[in-house]
Amino acid sequence: MTFLITGAAGFIGYHLVKRLLKKGNDVVGIDNLNHYYDVNLKLGRLSEMGIDYSESMREIVQSCKFPLYRFGKIDILERETLNELFSQEEFDIVINLAGQAGVRYSIENPYTYIDNNIVGFLNVLECCRHYPVKHLVYSSSSSVYGGNTKVPFSEEDRVDNPVSLYAATKKTNELMANVYNHLFGIPTTGLRFFTVYGSWGRPDMAYYSFTEKLLRGESIKIFNYGNCMRDFTYVDDIVEGIYRLIKRIPDGSMVYNIGNNHPESLLDFVNILQEELVRAKLLPADYDFAAHRELLPMQPGDVPVTYADTSKLEKYVGFKPSTSLRDGLRSFVEWYADYKFRV
Ligand SMILES: NC(=O)c1ccc[n+]([C@@H]2O[C@H](COP(=O)([O-])OP(=O)(O)OC[C@H]3O[C@@H](n4cnc5c(N)ncnc54)[C@H](O)[C@@H]3O)[C@@H](O)[C@H]2O)c1
Repeated sequence: MTFLITGAAGFIGYHLVKRLLKKGNDVVGIDNLNHYYDVNLKLGRLSEMGIDYSESMREIVQSCKFPLYRFGKIDILERETLNELFSQEEFDIVINLAGQAGVRYSIENPYTYIDNNIVGFLNVLECCRHYPVKHLVYSSSSSVYGGNTKVPFSEEDRVDNPVSLYAATKKTNELMANVYNHLFGIPTTGLRFFTVYGSWGRPDMAYYSFTEKLLRGESIKIFNYGNCMRDFTYVDDIVEGIYRLIKRIPDGSMVYNIGNNHPESLLDFVNILQEELVRAKLLPADYDFAAHRELLPMQPGDVPVTYADTSKLEKYVGFKPSTSLRDGLRSFVEWYADYKFRV
């Protein structure tokens, strides 16, 4: 099987590529290495995979650790380059993880979401149309459930109430995938991820930015006074879910929740994170956390709760995420301590 992973230098992309290679698959990864967050983290993930890349490079290079891995700086917005890649390789499975993430950022930067998430995805769909693939898997998001009040969120629920442009682009991706399946018979699977965290994570997400701020002695801002409930999902569980779903090629077009099915309050999450920072000796046991917290009202675009119904995932692939916040945050903090020491 030959896989194309877009967004391969990203957080989830990095973990997925590693998993696919460990299982002996042939993988081509692409990413535009944009500066939404520190590009050195993206280059660091590539380096872990034996790809010594710099931002000025364009060529597709071979990993020195994994003979079956190649990576190239390619933007899914570059239609011709993407077409050329598809015409040269015979991809069996395409997994589109490239895109602009982040809910709050979409309020100030709407165009980057339409470009990367909608036009970029269209380019991927067009390539899959002209160079047929066995399965197109793509990232969606729990944010499609928007202002829904019925929990847990089920794939059967209507998703007509997005509360951010980010969410609207993800819902649009699901509709586009439906259309391409209907018109051209491409089997598609959309993955509604729920707040993913873990090693090599994203610095714009709370667990990472809180860690950095606390270590710098700054205050952290906790919105909705810490009462938001999130289904925090450990990245290894996300990758396990993706890995099982890749092999389950649908007759039509499917979407699945991949979430922990166990929402926890932001305040509990912060408390565990703090305990783990102390345990890893990144902060002293007597650190005054209360003095470094600002409890603030809800932010526009945010939703009060995310909670995944995982019965469909369980039914089709016999798996549901189960890593506890304690274990997941411990592993993140251990990675972070090591990473900061190295850079
Ligand atoms: N992490 C989460 O909690 C979460 C939750 C729901 C959905 N998602 C979605 O999953 C996907 C992967 O998320 P992530 O957390 O790994 O984010 P990430 O930002 O770490 O990874 C995305 C990667 O895509 C690349 N990229 C962006 N635009 C591109 C383009 N035009 N061409 C090529 N590459 C491009 C970026 O450089 C980045 O490396 C995203 O679509 C995100 O919206 C993530």
